[in-house]
Formats: sequence, C-alpha cells, structure tokens
Amino acid sequence: MSISTPTFPPASSMEVLFTKEQIAERTRAIGAQITADYAGQSIVLIGVLKGAAIFLADLARAIQVDNTFDFVAVSSYGRARVTSGAVKLIKDIDNPIEGKHVIIVEDILDTGLTLSYLRGLMLQHKPASLKIASCLDKPERRLVPIEADYVAFKIPNQFVIGYGMDYAERYRGVEDIRLFPEETANL
Ligand code: IMP
Ligand code: MG
Repeated sequence: MSISTPTFPPASSMEVLFTKEQIAERTRAIGAQITADYAGQSIVLIGVLKGAAIFLADLARAIQVDNTFDFVAVSSYGRARVTSGAVKLIKDIDNPIEGKHVIIVEDILDTGLTLSYLRGLMLQHKPASLKIASCLDKPERRLVPIEADYVAFKIPNQFVIGYGMDYAERYRGVEDIRLFPEETANL
C-alpha cells in the first residue's frame, strides 16, 4: 500500500453524470411529491451527515409543509469503498421524534447497511411514520434489502462525487454530480 500524499484530480476533469439543473429539477419534483404526501402535516427531516447536507438544504426549500431539521452522523467507510459492514452512530438526533412524521434524508443508498441501521434506530423512537429520501440509489450494490421512498436518480455501480458527496472528504462543494475516475481511487 502506498503511503505517499494522495493527489486529487480537479472535479472539472471528471465526467458530469447529472448537471446542477437536472439535480434541481429532480429535487423540486421530490419536494412537490413530499408536499402532496404530507399535506396538512408537520415533518421532521433527518439528514445523514455529511453527505446529505446539501441535498437536505435544497429539498427542505422545495417542501411546502411545516418542517424541522435534525441531523445524525454515522461512521462511514472513509476513503475506502469497501464497507466493513459495521455502522456506528457518532451523533444522535437532538430532539425527540416520538409521534412525528420523519423522513431520513441521505445522499446515496448503496449497500443499504447505513440506512437499514438508521431506520432500525429511528423506529425505536416510535415515530408516527418513517420514510427515506435519497438523492442517489445504486440498486446493484445492495447487501441488505431496503428501498428509499423518494429517489432523485438511480445509478449503476460507479463512484460519484459532488453535491455533498465526497472522495476522502473532497469535492462535497462541487455543484453537479460527477464520475470519480476509478483508476485514481483506492476503492
Ligand atoms: P451504504 O451503507 O453502503 O448504503 O452507504 C452509503 C454511504 O456510502 C453513503 O451515505 C455515502 O456516504 C457513501 N457512498 C456510497 N457510494 C458513494 C459514492 O459513489 N460516492 C461517495 N460516497 C458514496
Ligand atoms: Mg453518507
């Protein structure tokens, strides 16, 4: 294994998978769907840090029903793509969700391990309902059976960055979603 300082290619050199306009269009559509599904109700959006922060910010502004935010953080698989399978809660919700309508907001539904762990954990708090909104979904990678209720885009088994998503904590601020070059990745 190399211990040299990693180099990070510029995002501008990476192929665009979804433009910021395409992302905005899908986010608005999901916001409208959630607004219709929860008409007259209050909802709690629980973002999974850090990847979902930007999607949550946009989604919340596309939702016209009363809503509050909360955030959780879980251990991620860091620079490596291969997950250990062990998910650990690093930051819990700040406010009780018992009896509330909750939507977990995630950047990518990949193996499903993170969201099935979080779903189980949140259900212990006895919310009135619990749904999942994920910006991306990679169905081919699933190791545990779980589906999101709201998905902006389904993608094949490719590693992506931007719109909150990182490689080694880089590229989260990139406005569109781009394909990370596999040959660069220590996946
Ligand atoms: P899961 O537990 O395998 O479903 O993990 C989902 C998490 O893995 C996401 O929240 C992302 O943080 C991360 N992840 C999965 N695929 C990608 C990717 O293509 N780019 C960046 N992060 C990814
Ligand atoms: Mg994540």
